[in-house]
Amino acid sequence: MVLDSQNMLQVIKDFPKQCREAFSLPKGISVSGEISNIVVLGMGGSAVGGDLLKIYLGNTNIPVFVNRDYKAPKFVNENSLVFAVSYSGNTEETLSAYQDAYGKNAKIIGITSGGKLADECEKVIKIPSGLQPRAALGYLFFPMIGVLHNTNIIRVKNDELNDMINTLKNTDKFNSEGEALAKKLKGKIPIIYASEALGAVAFRWKTQINENAKMAAFYNVFSEMNHNEIAGYKGMDRKFVAVLIRDKYDNERIKRRMDICKGIMEMTANVEEVQTKGDSLLARMFSAIYLGDFVSYYLALWNRVDPGPVEIIEQMKKKLVQ
Ligand code: F6R
Repeated sequence: MVLDSQNMLQVIKDFPKQCREAFSLPKGISVSGEISNIVVLGMGGSAVGGDLLKIYLGNTNIPVFVNRDYKAPKFVNENSLVFAVSYSGNTEETLSAYQDAYGKNAKIIGITSGGKLADECEKVIKIPSGLQPRAALGYLFFPMIGVLHNTNIIRVKNDELNDMINTLKNTDKFNSEGEALAKKLKGKIPIIYASEALGAVAFRWKTQINENAKMAAFYNVFSEMNHNEIAGYKGMDRKFVAVLIRDKYDNERIKRRMDICKGIMEMTANVEEVQTKGDSLLARMFSAIYLGDFVSYYLALWNRVDPGPVEIIEQMKKKLVQ
């Protein structure tokens, strides 16, 4: 059996290049008129970019809503900017929510490599095909901030993009750190934690471990987990590994909570910590994501599964059309 039939390792390594290219894809594409909210329609790997957009726009006045359902949210109207994101362009929930948003006269931009979405949507940013959707996160996220930049809703500074690219450029280091951490997680059930502010990053780790390594993984955020999940550590066992994603800009009280929790968790489970790198928000988000992608890749190899194809997901989709 070819273990990496879709060359996922190379695709992961090329991620910084993908991000840079993706930012310039919406050249000249902008929207006009009032925008009172932004809605991202998508599922799975195509929705995660929306979660990251929500973090990224956290300091602006525009609310961002990520919609993983057959219908667009009720509040969508002609002043909503809707990104309909589907790598394949054929995901039924996204297509159905797109139709709903279209009926509400929203300003819609599709982001896809083809499929029905490319045919149906009037304004489309075409991204390269041939990747697993989850491996195309750069193509799925950066065109959105490119459009917002072109529309003068945000100003993405070159310094910020450069900080991110410079932070990610040490691919070998991310690769070897990822491999080393995967060794500690193999045969265990990871539970990934981050602050609420970086919750989407923890969620991305979980989903990458699920889809690349084909194994169970869970996630939660601080400080919500202090109010429920931490109680479960009384009955935990060493099959579980808590992975704490820490950020130098985490709220001081969150840092304190993580320190205290680490002590509690270590009594009954294994604990690993990782630190975001770089200074800008883009660098910190994507450095943790980049590391997590390598971790999930090496976990796949440890599990002796091909990291690329996700047969169970494909079977599910096929059964739904029968
Ligand atoms: C597969 C993957 C999935 C898909 C999801 C939606 O690599 O990541 O989570 O993203 O099934 O499909 P698309 O992205 O084509 O809309």
